[in-house]
Amino acid sequence: MSKKIFLTGGAGYIGSHTAVVLLEAGYDVVIYDNLSNSKYEVINRIEKITGKRPEFIKGDIRDSKTLEKAIEGCDAVIHFAGLKAVGESVEKPLEYYDNNVCGSVNLFKVMQKKNIKKIVFSSSATVYGDPQKLPLTEDHPLAPVNPYGKTKYMIEEILKDLYNSDKNWHIAVLRYFNPVGAHESGLIGEDPQGIPNNLMPYISQVAVGKREYLRVFGNDYDTPDGTGIRDYIHVVDLAKGHLKALEKLDEIGYEVYNLGTGRGYSVLEVVKAFEKASGKKIPYKIVERRPGDVAVCYADPSKAEKELNWKAEYDINKMCKDSWNWQSKNPKGYE
Ligand code: NAD
Ligand code: WQD
Repeated sequence: MSKKIFLTGGAGYIGSHTAVVLLEAGYDVVIYDNLSNSKYEVINRIEKITGKRPEFIKGDIRDSKTLEKAIEGCDAVIHFAGLKAVGESVEKPLEYYDNNVCGSVNLFKVMQKKNIKKIVFSSSATVYGDPQKLPLTEDHPLAPVNPYGKTKYMIEEILKDLYNSDKNWHIAVLRYFNPVGAHESGLIGEDPQGIPNNLMPYISQVAVGKREYLRVFGNDYDTPDGTGIRDYIHVVDLAKGHLKALEKLDEIGYEVYNLGTGRGYSVLEVVKAFEKASGKKIPYKIVERRPGDVAVCYADPSKAEKELNWKAEYDINKMCKDSWNWQSKNPKGYE
């Protein structure tokens, strides 16, 4: 009998790519999403790619009644649901603590009640704060610097306490570095509402003519070309990491894994790679540093490789190629 996996926030960017990977691996998928940052159309697209339609329930993780009904019969949870804009979290901290922390506590309570004690959780490299040592290993001290990052840190701590209270739980915390790219088909991808906060969607929108130029946030960092360096990871590689974690979950008590490539690229290197992949010129202007940004951040992903048998396969060229393919085929996103 195939296993049924409950994806909170499964209609979003990373969740939708994970749904595709799980369906292709033979799992049944239930997507539970309030559509606050995604579109129903993504369900049709997932079906188009895989030939299988995931079950979809519109609901909020803070709504116990709907959640209890929806989660019935599921074997494990992948918990993507949450708000993720760093700047917005500084302006609206209570919304972030309510959605992310209270929402997660509510989800874990429902899981406990229904005796579903297997979970893969979407955490973030942002929990490390300003790196003291590179590459970042999972035991690096945690010091998130904004409310969004603090919600991820708090949820990790809650999950750890939960495991300590009841060893029947199986918990994999995945700390993503910088997810970019899209499914090869160009049918699903990142669809930011309003002005994109992140580099790759912003570059894509410049390439497609939606924005005039990229603002490069600072070229006076202590890096070879002065611009910030990040560990970009193809979203399909990331999605496969969830499958690997799920497959190992029975052997895991509480474990944390970095999911990154282990290689950093500067802003200007990404611009160059995107120009090559798209054949479009990306005009840019150097502007002030963005408050809260660190100079360099990249993962040591060797724990995931050793214990989950997972390794990122796609390079920056493939990430740019697939981002551009999605953006050029869907200039208005899922609209
Ligand atoms: P996303 O916004 O595309 O997906 C999140 C989904 O959760 C959306 O579909 C949204 O509608 C849904 N959602 C939000 N609040 C909800 C609630 N209360 N109840 C039900 N559904 C709710 O974001 P994403 O990029 O796919 O990120 C998925 C997860 O990974 C998030 O938890 C995010 O914090 C984490 N993460 C993302 C990144 C990144 O750069 N994209 C990096 C590290 C970690
Ligand atoms: C990458 C680089 C910018 C936009 C964020 C969150 C993190 C995680 C991933 C969720 C930096 C530069 C960017 C632009 C630019 N999300 N940049 N012009 O900040 O590393 O991480 O997303 O967990 O928590 O903080 O990603 O894509 O915003 O920036 O020059 O218009 O691109 O300064 O060096 P970041 P990003």
